[in-house]
Amino acid sequence: MSRDVEQKVRVRHLQQEDLGEADRILRSAFGTFLGLSRPTDYFVDRDYVRTRYQADPRMAWAAEVDGRLAGTSFATRWGSLGFFGPLTVDPDLWDRGVGRALLGPTLEALKAPGVTHRGLFTYAHSPKHLALYQSVGFWPRFLTVIVEKSVTESSGGSFTALSSVADAADALDAARDLTGAVYRGLDLGHEIEAVRRLGLGETLLVYDGDRLAALAVCHVGPGTEAGGGRLYIKFGAARPGTAAPQRFARLLAACESHALASGCPTVVAGVSTGRRGAYRQLLERGYQTQSVGVTLHAPDLDPYHHPDAYVMDDWR
Ligand SMILES: CC(C)(COP(=O)(O)OP(=O)(O)OC[C@H]1O[C@@H](n2cnc3c(N)ncnc32)[C@H](O)[C@@H]1OP(=O)(O)O)[C@@H](O)C(=O)NCCC(=O)NCCS
Repeated sequence: MSRDVEQKVRVRHLQQEDLGEADRILRSAFGTFLGLSRPTDYFVDRDYVRTRYQADPRMAWAAEVDGRLAGTSFATRWGSLGFFGPLTVDPDLWDRGVGRALLGPTLEALKAPGVTHRGLFTYAHSPKHLALYQSVGFWPRFLTVIVEKSVTESSGGSFTALSSVADAADALDAARDLTGAVYRGLDLGHEIEAVRRLGLGETLLVYDGDRLAALAVCHVGPGTEAGGGRLYIKFGAARPGTAAPQRFARLLAACESHALASGCPTVVAGVSTGRRGAYRQLLERGYQTQSVGVTLHAPDLDPYHHPDAYVMDDWR
């Protein structure tokens, strides 16, 4: 590694005026890594930089080299779970210490009290990625696949949209209760609030009588993590228990109905292959694998990546 750049890297919080260049770097970094002929075409109309920054500017960092924006990183807290990404560096500055410098404050933020598990999603086939993250204590466990399905007819799914609920505080309490049953302290409250505040999509609630049986936090359409014509299930979970598979099926039907009704008929979701029941159900329902990654964990354990967890997320 050339140390000349490493000594000049300055990491600070990302600012509003960085967002355009940060977005270009992110697309260029992923597009170059994946070998696209026009790297900045990567993600087309999907957005990570603005949405993550606006969701929580305190969890977004920028690296500068000689006053030039060189890369960015983002972190997310879902209660007791913390994960980071995307982490991207302008390709002409790769392998010169910028990515490692960004990891410093990013990981520090995830050491906050109450965070019991940390992780990230990355490319399973990249020796560099695995080495970089392992060197800071994260270890690869199950594969996580990104699956999608084009919905052509209504699956008859029914749900309550959080945006239509009079007492959202009650619904958020119920959501916290459900996610806490999936993994102690797991809390999507901030994510749900960001989706509502920034108009990124909808949170779907599926009930068994009065009791919340499942929920999905969805991004819908362009300018979100979904992209045009797509509904992306950023997080979805069924309440654990013997009826979890049936609850999960109802949740998928709800997501598919909402996708059709929103004019975004392609449903995208991420699922750990360690969640065998959920993974198999998605495949049996006609979801096809679009890409494969791996989640890395600290500690080296599976928080809710086990056969009984009927959960969708990917930590990208
Ligand atoms: C991944 C990425 C952020 C890393 O940033 P970077 O500035 O190139 O990384 P750094 O130079 O700080 O660190 C890379 C480390 O990997 C090591 N490395 C590089 N190639 C390697 C290989 N083939 N095998 C093992 N280690 C390797 C380097 O030696 C360095 O370690 P060191 O600090 O101990 O010397 C950057 O390459 C990028 O933007 N990639 C495209 C987007 C992406 O994939 N983002 C991450 C998604 S999880």
